[in-house]
Amino acid sequence: MARKKDFQMAYIDTKPQLTLLLIHGFPLNSMMWWPQINGLDRVARVIAPDLRGFGRSEAIDGAYSMRTFADDCKHLLDRLEVTEPVVVGGFSMGGYVAFEFYRRYPSMVRGLILTGTRAGADDERSREGRTQAIEAVQKNGAEVITKPMVSRLLSNYQFNRNEELIGTVTDIMGSASEAGMIGALTAMRDRDDSTGTLAKIDVPTLVIHGMDDKIVPVLDARIMDEEIPNCQLQFIPRAGHLVNMESPKQWNALAESFLTELLDE
Ligand code: MLT
Repeated sequence: MARKKDFQMAYIDTKPQLTLLLIHGFPLNSMMWWPQINGLDRVARVIAPDLRGFGRSEAIDGAYSMRTFADDCKHLLDRLEVTEPVVVGGFSMGGYVAFEFYRRYPSMVRGLILTGTRAGADDERSREGRTQAIEAVQKNGAEVITKPMVSRLLSNYQFNRNEELIGTVTDIMGSASEAGMIGALTAMRDRDDSTGTLAKIDVPTLVIHGMDDKIVPVLDARIMDEEIPNCQLQFIPRAGHLVNMESPKQWNALAESFLTELLDE
């Protein structure tokens, strides 16, 4: 609605007023957001980068960190001349990047959508697991990690019946480079704990989590909801870690109503 002095005027304008920056998880790429790129284009301009080493982005060797990823995303927004604050949507590892982006560029964030992610850092055991995974990729290639991962990304419900989704996810992971895998595993292993950031988040936040997530426990979603001042938490039943692909209609409906509320503020 556009308010004039004496009345409110309804209108249609096909240029979305919001920009949604969607940051993918590990070892995926921007294609994981295909249902959102198609489903949310009415409400938002969707920008979905491939992080370095993934998808069609260059796979450079060297040290990757959450800071590098966040800076890469900011650089992309600058190149695209996006100067207004954006809604940052992060899935799993993309959520770790979203926290870093928020810390580094708070004035560029209008809202957050955190999916299948957590604020806490890796504990000692998980850090060791990341180091072993890095060594395994170095020795045997990316497939040692990606192959067994499909069944962990999806709920049993989807894994047992959705051949098409299994194929799509396998293809997406198949394009991950060894440099990207090693870089991202290092970045995740060494990432900061974002728990202390939660209470300081002063933008509206939506947390979406699959109830059957096998990678990030639902407790982590509850912690974010409890600590972030202006937060809503939504669980999606019969969905696992990859909830936006497993239940795209529900995910998009939640995101759309969150984005619409932001516009009405
Ligand atoms: C992801 O889905 O991005 C990763 O599995 C997250 C993680 O391993 O911590």
